[in-house]
Amino acid sequence: MKEKKLTLHIRQYTFDELDETAKMLVERAREAAGDAYAPYSDFRVGTALLLENGTVITGNNQENAAYPSGLCAERVAVFYAGARYPDVAIVALALTARRPEGFTVEPAYPCGACRQVLLEAENRSGKPIRLIMAGRNHADVVDSVKELLPVSFDKRFLE
Ligand code: THU
Repeated sequence: MKEKKLTLHIRQYTFDELDETAKMLVERAREAAGDAYAPYSDFRVGTALLLENGTVITGNNQENAAYPSGLCAERVAVFYAGARYPDVAIVALALTARRPEGFTVEPAYPCGACRQVLLEAENRSGKPIRLIMAGRNHADVVDSVKELLPVSFDKRFLE
């Protein structure tokens, strides 16, 4: 029997320690969270992604009375980016979440389905996506989606 052990690298920054690009993306993601359509969960997620050409695209969760028909904030933004800028790499994405009482103290992490979609975007462009997952006063940062989805299904299995 062989054992594989994986190490996860998450860096935790206070807001002051974040670089200007990360701060800007967190700010845009927070604004986007305010426009989420989340009447069922009251959990408003906002995201802002940066394309390699400098374009910022925001997204938020879109819920539905038929619950599974809704979509997470990350996928709203990533699919829009793919539709509008199919050949431009995503280089960073910030994520924020708020409840009625305010932004969550702890960062929200992308759900499994969104990790899979983000991984596809990363593999498609061949460039890593920096994920900035922001809580109220700090952010957890990883330099690639692979950090959050290290053992994954991708196109290799279809070849
Ligand atoms: N949600 C997101 O938008 N992104 C995630 O990564 C996790 C969950 C949304 C889906 C749903 O509208 C609400 O948060 C509660 O699950």
